[in-house]
Amino acid sequence: MAEVLIKGGRIVTAVDDYMADILIQDGRVEAIGRDLSAPSATLHRAEGLLVFPGGVDVHTHMQFDLGPAETVDSFESGTQSAAFGGTTTIVDFAQQHKGEHPKQVLEDRIALAEPQACVDFGFHIILTDVTDETLGALPDLIDREGVSSFKMFMAYPGVLMVNDADMFKTMRVVGHHGGMVNVHAENGSVIQVLIEEALAAGNTSPKYHRLTRPSLMEGEATHRAIRLAELAEVPVYIVHLSAAEALQAVVEARDTGMPAFAETCPHYLFLTEEEYDRPDFEGAKYVMTPPLRDHKCQHALWRGLRFDDLQIVSTDHCPFCFNENPYGIRKSKALGQDDFSQIPNGAPGVEFRIPLLFDGGVGTGRITLNRFVQLTATAPAKMFGLFPRKGTIAVGSDADLVLFDPQKTHTLSAKTHHSRVDYSLFEGRQVTGKVEKVFLRGQLVVDGEQWLGRPGMGQYLKRSASGRVL
Ligand code: URP
Ligand code: ZN
Ligand code: ZN
Repeated sequence: MAEVLIKGGRIVTAVDDYMADILIQDGRVEAIGRDLSAPSATLHRAEGLLVFPGGVDVHTHMQFDLGPAETVDSFESGTQSAAFGGTTTIVDFAQQHKGEHPKQVLEDRIALAEPQACVDFGFHIILTDVTDETLGALPDLIDREGVSSFKMFMAYPGVLMVNDADMFKTMRVVGHHGGMVNVHAENGSVIQVLIEEALAAGNTSPKYHRLTRPSLMEGEATHRAIRLAELAEVPVYIVHLSAAEALQAVVEARDTGMPAFAETCPHYLFLTEEEYDRPDFEGAKYVMTPPLRDHKCQHALWRGLRFDDLQIVSTDHCPFCFNENPYGIRKSKALGQDDFSQIPNGAPGVEFRIPLLFDGGVGTGRITLNRFVQLTATAPAKMFGLFPRKGTIAVGSDADLVLFDPQKTHTLSAKTHHSRVDYSLFEGRQVTGKVEKVFLRGQLVVDGEQWLGRPGMGQYLKRSASGRVL
């Protein structure tokens, strides 16, 4: 029986904060107590360190094919990067293309991820082709295959966008079977008009990405998604929320008792639209959807995190290199050198979520330590049917643990991160608080700068109901 003993740490969960030892047996927490002893266990000293549950990031895009572009992190490199950042579970996406059966899409994606994953993983399914066959497949996916959340896009017409009627039909079926819908809420049709006008006027640089995706159209789509979900009686989760107008729609829905939820991402909490004014093509690094917003929106997001109007911080890790080499133009922002609308949408971040939110959230007093754990581990695990196996430190839970030095200062940089991507949104930012050791189901995978994990050790997670438990 593999035994590990972590002694002397300060255990922090979403509700607790106390000094105790943790005994791990066969990958699970066996006991928590004072002065535990286990002579045959491997000992790790944790004096002066915080012990958190492993992070749960429910929005990543590893090895993700977006047609002309593909994200640069494989499941191996992306999950290794996640682990170095204290994240031991991801929920990524399996995307349905026209004519594809969602179950096949899921099976293919699991087969791709399984031999590579270094942390545990689940999938949401992106639906783009709402047919009777698609709708008929959903109950089985929820009840048997562990997929209880389905993402639909109100943006990207002709590529990913689903119309209101198809969205409503999907919502009804998902709601009936204990699932939740995730919505990318931007008014894609109106945005398309603005993009075409900008290009016709010769406005091709990255800053027009922001100018053609106004926060008002995120607010409009968020309101519409919530109203459709209300009618369909399904919990709704707004992904990567960035705009104050969108947050307002979520707040209003929650005030009436609706199961409406939302996440935001570190880039919206720590960066603003001024990044698009960088010279040359540099602004392309910040081309993600929705775009970075103004300080007013950022202020609203922090308020939303404090008052539980926003429940989760995810990364939307969707990395494309800035330079074409060494991975080629399909994995590079260079695709949009002459036309901002061709810049692959997405930015990296899976490794920096926990250090950034600790430094800029807990360190500045904007959120408490318990709230930080809630936002990065417990709420995502609960929201997406992974709790209590994931998202907390409790007897019987998976021993996914982060030993974290709250005093250590370090610099975030693409030179030292573990993703394949060649830049960081946060290059050169000094943060206080560093991941020291990471355990995945009791196995030490990160020890300082040392990688001890291996591809294939991450397990596929069948999830239970989503959106029913918060
Ligand atoms: O720009 C983004 N967010 N790219 C990833 C795809 C998505 O919309 O989540
Ligand atoms: Zn999206
Ligand atoms: Zn995304």
